[in-house]
Amino acid sequence: METQEKRKRIYSAMQPSGLITLGNYLGALNNWVKLQDDYDCLFCVANMHAITVRQDPAKLRKQSRDLLMQFLAVGLDPQKNIIYYQSHVPQHAELSWILNCYTYMGELNRMTQFKDKAAKHADNINAGLYTYPVLMAADILLYQADLVPVGEDQRQHLEITRDIAERFNNLYGETFVVPDAYIGKVGARIMALQEPDRKMSKSDENKNNTITILDEPAQIMNKIKRAMTDSENEVRFAPEKPGISNLLSIYSAVTGKTIAEAEKEFAGVGYGTFKTAVGEAVVARLEPIRTKVSDLEKNKDYLDAIIKEGAQKAERIASRTLEKAQKKVGFPPKIR
Ligand code: TYM
Repeated sequence: METQEKRKRIYSAMQPSGLITLGNYLGALNNWVKLQDDYDCLFCVANMHAITVRQDPAKLRKQSRDLLMQFLAVGLDPQKNIIYYQSHVPQHAELSWILNCYTYMGELNRMTQFKDKAAKHADNINAGLYTYPVLMAADILLYQADLVPVGEDQRQHLEITRDIAERFNNLYGETFVVPDAYIGKVGARIMALQEPDRKMSKSDENKNNTITILDEPAQIMNKIKRAMTDSENEVRFAPEKPGISNLLSIYSAVTGKTIAEAEKEFAGVGYGTFKTAVGEAVVARLEPIRTKVSDLEKNKDYLDAIIKEGAQKAERIASRTLEKAQKKVGFPPKIR
């Protein structure tokens, strides 16, 4: 008799739209690394999502490879996880088309990320940007994922994914696992350093707002020194203190200490000293990652082998789900 329970499956992805920020790292990647030992995981470079805003083709190609290297450098193990490029698995586009026909415009109209991006890219409000959440639902549902570790900003996309899955299942019987979002307690929403009322984002033009995982130590210290604070001089987590609260969240996420412990540690200490401690903690965490990336850059064959194998393994799983969905909606099976 089978005694071992089937392991739950995890799926997550990241767009190769720039270097990974401290926000991406603390909100998502860091949790992926923690989860990889207990779950069957797939991690995807979401390059099909990335072209919903204009990209320079050569840059996109490079950023995709860089992102994959950064996945490995933070500690994702290619032996344990399936790591792949979204565009290498055609089933994403195929399932996405089917799911488009089971998603309402009213639902897509409510997506805050679409509204934000449409406002930011007013000259290119394309249909892909609008149906972006449907492609994301296809990503997740293709692999029958139980859990999706993401930052707070993806919560709404997870909810629409669940709605689409439930609608399809209600119409045709159990087809897709209905996934849950996994959002960490600390670091789920890291804010821009100089404008702590909005999230830290890969595509921010003000580079002093973001720390990337490949920034040099001096750059990191400098950016944190210049981060916005307030006119008090008290290290305390509070809604009216967004800058200090953000630095506390960062400190807590990189050191593993709670916010309360951190507040205690910096009680009676000035902002200058506090910022130095945050900067040093971030540097200590990111430095080994930077070294690992530069090692990987020298190892083309190793990376190519991971890319090839990842695509093959992902496609094997994806094609089973796609065929199931195709059958349910009434497409005839292929004659082989
Ligand atoms: P993306 O590439 O914008 O971000 C990748 C991950 O990083 C998290 N994140 C943050 N967490 C905390 N603080 C921040 N400031 C911050 N900024 C970003 C995001 O929540 C995300 O988890 N649509 C997705 C990519 C995607 C996906 C998927 C994710 C495509 N298909 C399927 C999960 C499952 C996106 O644009 O993430």
